[in-house]
Amino acid sequence: MDRTRHNPAFCRLPAAACMIVPPLIQFLRRSRVLKVLLTEIEIQAGIEALAKRLDAEYRGRPLTVLGVLTGSLIFLADLIRRMDFPLRVGLIQASSYRGTATLPGALEIHDAGLPILEGRDVLLLDDIFDTGQTLSHLVQHVERQRPHSLRSAVLLWKIGRQRVEITPDYYCFRIPDVFVVGYGLDYHDDYRHLPHVAALDEEDLG
Ligand code: IMP
Ligand code: MG
Repeated sequence: MDRTRHNPAFCRLPAAACMIVPPLIQFLRRSRVLKVLLTEIEIQAGIEALAKRLDAEYRGRPLTVLGVLTGSLIFLADLIRRMDFPLRVGLIQASSYRGTATLPGALEIHDAGLPILEGRDVLLLDDIFDTGQTLSHLVQHVERQRPHSLRSAVLLWKIGRQRVEITPDYYCFRIPDVFVVGYGLDYHDDYRHLPHVAALDEEDLG
């Protein structure tokens, strides 16, 4: 809820100020906590390069791109529009984090509505490879569907946090060990809509 709009202090201001001040406060609040790590242009260039690699690998094969909800949503949409050959899209939901950069809790996988993956070349697509536990669990889960092949791609790969044997087959960017938001990534479900990737200040992580 936008509390500023219902704040009596604002109701005493002239009407025009009531329209301008709350969005201004929101803008200042956001710009204080966010530091751009990857611009929209850099992200799009990274995705273009990945799409070219995938084109060389998968053109003419029965590809299903399987996006991990919710973080991969924007990445998935931008990537598949650059892959100009027949492919199928599926979604699977995995949740481990509840907000901050601390260790992930138990992973929940929801695969209702998963398309048939048997015999398909599956590319599992996630927003970020952090400890790697999510990807590792998802790979085991999807392998039970007997795909012809299974590989993984992530937008971001965080340096120095890996806790599993496997690594992503494809990635767009390596990033330092900071908590990032935007371009699908969230902090308490906020910031996913940003067109760039930004780091949150330590003091803003609760
Ligand atoms: P992992 O299992 O530790 O590799 O974590 C993977 C999941 O944790 C990702 O799909 C994200 O949802 C979440 N995550 C990890 N690091 C970040 C971050 O810096 N910002 C937002 N979400 C993150
Ligand atoms: Mg995620």
